[in-house]
Amino acid sequence: MIKDPTDAVVRVDAVTICGTDLHILKGDVPETRPGTVLGHEAVGQVVETGADVRTVRPGDEVLISCITACGRCRFCKDGAYGQCRGGGGWILGHLIDGTQAEYVRVPHADLSVHRLPGGVEKHDAVLFADIFPTAYEVGVTNGNVRPGDTVAVVGAGPVGLAAILTARLDETIKIIRSTIFGLRSRETAARSGLRARVMRVVGETAPGSGFAPSVRMEGLLDTQVPKDVADHVIAVLGEALSNVARHARAGRTAVALGTDGREVRLAVVDDGVGIPPDGRRSGLRNMAERAEQLGGSLELTTPADGGTSLVWRVPVNEP
Ligand SMILES: Nc1ncnc2c1ncn2[C@@H]1O[C@H](COP(=O)(O)OP(=O)(O)O)[C@@H](O)[C@H]1O
Ligand SMILES: [Mg+2]
Ligand SMILES: [Zn+2]
Ligand SMILES: [Zn+2]
Repeated sequence: MIKDPTDAVVRVDAVTICGTDLHILKGDVPETRPGTVLGHEAVGQVVETGADVRTVRPGDEVLISCITACGRCRFCKDGAYGQCRGGGGWILGHLIDGTQAEYVRVPHADLSVHRLPGGVEKHDAVLFADIFPTAYEVGVTNGNVRPGDTVAVVGAGPVGLAAILTARLDETIKIIRSTIFGLRSRETAARSGLRARVMRVVGETAPGSGFAPSVRMEGLLDTQVPKDVADHVIAVLGEALSNVARHARAGRTAVALGTDGREVRLAVVDDGVGIPPDGRRSGLRNMAERAEQLGGSLELTTPADGGTSLVWRVPVNEP
């Protein structure tokens, strides 16, 4: 099976079918000859190496890269292995027999198969043959995605999902998804849904008071928060906002409401004068009682740079 001294033969233990394979079957890749074994992503064990192979030995668990690299041509020297002119590039399952087989011959093994670090599952590692690097390089690096950027990933198939993971965009995606969900459920929940009610309360409180709170909502608020809990949320939000408007003299106010299906959490944070240690407590007591009644809590704290942080949280049982 060894043809060149730089070859390794690998017993394939985990393999994938890539979208590219489907393109080949559809006829989009005419240079692939009929009868070629497809597949360019795999994890396996080295069974044989050519005389010139230095970095792996028989018995090693390895990742087979979708891209083979000679390491010597000017493209390889630039790190553009996909353009390799020395007999590498994308050749597996394309120009030569690929990984969807029991054994595969990998040319230029020194730079084209990689020993797995201990403790890495084969089925996890195989994602690094093509999908993750593609998503990271093409989507995140070439797309100039930086921490804190908001992006839309169009087409959340395997590569799209990998792009999300590699960009550590889970948080952003959560917001996008819940926003989309909010838009979708707008018709049914236009008047009665918790999201819509929150926006109304904020809109009603803000105009006269000269402040416009920022609002952030996350999770399936319209479906996972039962009506009676939603009523409490609206009452607490109204009281909290009226307190900010009447007492806080705040420059900024942030409203955050979210649910993970287990609890609903409302936070109203302002940068105003803060709550004096003693004095009347009627609205505040009312909010605490509403939380206790539902098995939750009200927490009032002072943020590091002053003001008031009110966090009201209660459990919800998924309907
Ligand atoms: N966001 C806030 N910023 C500053 N002070 C606040 C805030 N919320 C409440 N307070 C203070 O706490 C007191 C008690 O609030 P509350 O129980 O709602 O009663 P009320 O609003 O009727 O005065 C208020 O009178 C006010 O002094
Ligand atoms: Mg009050
Ligand atoms: Zn692929
Ligand atoms: Zn090369």
